[in-house]
Amino acid sequence: MNEETITESVPPVRYWPAPELTGVDFDPVLADLMREGPVTRIKLPNGEGWAWLVTRFDDVRLVTNDPRFSREAVMDRQVTRLAPHFIPARGAVGFLDPPDHTRLRRSVAAAFTARGVERVRDQARGMLDELVGTMLAAGPPADLTAAVLSPFPIAVICALMGVPAADRERMHTWTQLILSSSQGAEVSERAKQEMGACFADLIGLREGGTGEDVASLLGAAVGREEITLEEAVGLALLLQIGGEAVTNNSGQLFYVLLTRPELAERLRAEPETRPAAIDELLRWIPHRNAVGLSRIALEDMEIRGVRIRAGDAVYVSYLAANRDPDVFPDPDTIDLSRSPNPHVSFGFGPHYCPGGQLARLESELLVDAVLDRVPGLALAVPPEEVPFKKGALIRGPEALPVTW
Ligand code: HEM
Repeated sequence: MNEETITESVPPVRYWPAPELTGVDFDPVLADLMREGPVTRIKLPNGEGWAWLVTRFDDVRLVTNDPRFSREAVMDRQVTRLAPHFIPARGAVGFLDPPDHTRLRRSVAAAFTARGVERVRDQARGMLDELVGTMLAAGPPADLTAAVLSPFPIAVICALMGVPAADRERMHTWTQLILSSSQGAEVSERAKQEMGACFADLIGLREGGTGEDVASLLGAAVGREEITLEEAVGLALLLQIGGEAVTNNSGQLFYVLLTRPELAERLRAEPETRPAAIDELLRWIPHRNAVGLSRIALEDMEIRGVRIRAGDAVYVSYLAANRDPDVFPDPDTIDLSRSPNPHVSFGFGPHYCPGGQLARLESELLVDAVLDRVPGLALAVPPEEVPFKKGALIRGPEALPVTW
């Protein structure tokens, strides 16, 4: 596109409150922004000013993969946002640009590849069997979240990280305190310090070692002076906390299967279709509210004929990109046989989610265990009575009351 075709009239700024959404409904404000798009302007409940929003699949991939959009530059700004608090840690993986970002991510990459996560598959399956067995032994009804969907990802991420089983509970408590804003910033800061001290010990103990868990990989990278101990601890913290995202996502996944029994029946009858079906559910599930972290344009650019100026903040919506009709025909329909399915639920570009393969593995094991071992599984309450988290950044059920 040449200079003459760039439009200088800017779209109006739309206020995007975080509406209380029910169940797994797609956010109607985002649906409006997609219709109004492809490039719109938004104002979220916290922070200052407005930011651009891109929602089309190709544009989302462009913004997330082009070094002219910087994450590091977000650090010094109070960009309009959903989260009430914004206390970015300098040097944290979410706020680095290449080459520092690449250096940090490379230190743990081996543990998170499809092959890397296979290392914990058998152990994970064993822990899951135990959790499901305990739930079955106690008899119905049960809260699937408390019994399985919460403890399982914690156990798995601890195994992958190299955190001893005895420290699991503490890790979970710290994670909850760090993520919750209701206890105040001090409480969550203290939890961060304590979790950090625990990881500093674990990583220090493994410095120069050859183990395959994440603490060992970080220890080895510190030993080779590729990363500092502080960087290693910061990364360990984010990976540990990120590990619990699967609880919310699989909570939504089972809510979908329990409210659309025809999908669950198909997965029971055709187990070989499960990996592809899980990817389709990952595409469709509205994982988060609004949008996550923005990026800052480092130079004047244009997207679809709209001029973005250097210094402007730009958000992408992966949820919207996953419903782009040019890429996903009939995007609002869950089509378990959808192929190809190049969804961006785990992000795109250098900041793509390191936990994607782990989340897939855990979701597969969960679907296998829960569908195969609990054939009569059903919601114990009407769907509208399933409590969903309120005011959270990541969406999911608070509890999933089930019977069988
Ligand atoms: C179904 C579950 C999950 C979903 C849908 C999900 C989704 C995402 C998305 C969309 C991003 C942001 C990409 C961006 O900034 O552009 C992200 C980043 C991240 N996720 Fe996940 N995630 C999940 C599970 C996990 C797990 C299991 C872990 C831990 C192993 C994890 C750790 C992280 C970390 C550390 C980042 C920041 C990466 C960076 O900025 O370089 N996530 N995730």
